[in-house]
Amino acid sequence: MAPSPRETSDKLQDAMEDCAEATNRTISKLLPETDLAEARLYDAMRHGTLSGGKRLRPFLCLQAASLFNVDRKSAKRVAAAIEFAHCYSLIHDDLPAMDNSSMRRGVPTVHREYDEATAILAGDALLTLSFEVLSDPDTHEDPRVRIKLINELAKAAGGHGMVGGQMLDLIGEEEEFDLGTVSRLQRMKTGRLIAFACEAGAILGKAGEQQHKALCNYAYDLGLAFQVTDDILDVEADPSTTGKPANQDEKAGKSTFVSTMGKEQAKMRAEMLIHQAIRHLAIFEHRADLLRELALYVLQRRV
Ligand code: IPE
Ligand code: IPE
Ligand code: MG
Ligand code: MG
Ligand code: MG
Repeated sequence: MAPSPRETSDKLQDAMEDCAEATNRTISKLLPETDLAEARLYDAMRHGTLSGGKRLRPFLCLQAASLFNVDRKSAKRVAAAIEFAHCYSLIHDDLPAMDNSSMRRGVPTVHREYDEATAILAGDALLTLSFEVLSDPDTHEDPRVRIKLINELAKAAGGHGMVGGQMLDLIGEEEEFDLGTVSRLQRMKTGRLIAFACEAGAILGKAGEQQHKALCNYAYDLGLAFQVTDDILDVEADPSTTGKPANQDEKAGKSTFVSTMGKEQAKMRAEMLIHQAIRHLAIFEHRADLLRELALYVLQRRV
């Protein structure tokens, strides 16, 4: 599901395609097909990770890592680990107990293709696999780098990050949240993992404090803008391009940027955040051009 050329420069489109291919290859190697008796679990994990997706988080990780000339194999393994955590969150997000979604990335969701118990287990195993990959010496020779990656992913994915955000998202179906609470929810459920994807490049590259901070600030604003545009796409995008059903949020009565401030204000908010994100990249000069373009793509995306 690469972006169309109309929306992005050829350079960004090529780079995103390369990243998606590299991510697919790395995931496939880390998650090979098997004929073990429990093969159903691995088939479900492959279904949840190898059926498309924009691979935005791997792209951020690879691009950030390239600013510090990180070994590409290291960066690809970390990118795959982050995508495993992201795909686990999508598999669980789609379950009947959560958003009850039937399609994802243009194919049936994991619980539809397999069953609910298998989807829960596939998600559990993917999250665990992401930590297995990060802790493997093949990912980085320096144990301090590996520990830092593990610690930051744990914080981004756990109760103070994605999982906490998902809890708020469900509570927001029953309660009407104000804008401050919706912003906190969205930063936790989506922003934190996106920010980690970018920060991971800085950790791998042992970046200095100023550069590390600049990347985190960029990703922090980009991550929130990404969820604002996800909320907008839910009301205006075509399921045949997004690969997932439309109008899910309103049906479930969720508190989103669109329900709280209206679609037009939400678009203005996303634009403001994206321009703020781009300003944080100044210190990298032209070396961060693709990250700048990616930010603009997030604003215009239809997928
Ligand atoms: C969807 O994420 C869920 C959110 C956090 C908004 P993406 O829009 O990145 O989904 P894929 O990975 O491209 O399918
Ligand atoms: C999901 O947000 C965020 C996750 C942590 C998985 P949404 O529920 O809005 O994501 P979509 O719209 O189903 O992709
Ligand atoms: Mg959800
Ligand atoms: Mg959902
Ligand atoms: Mg959504």
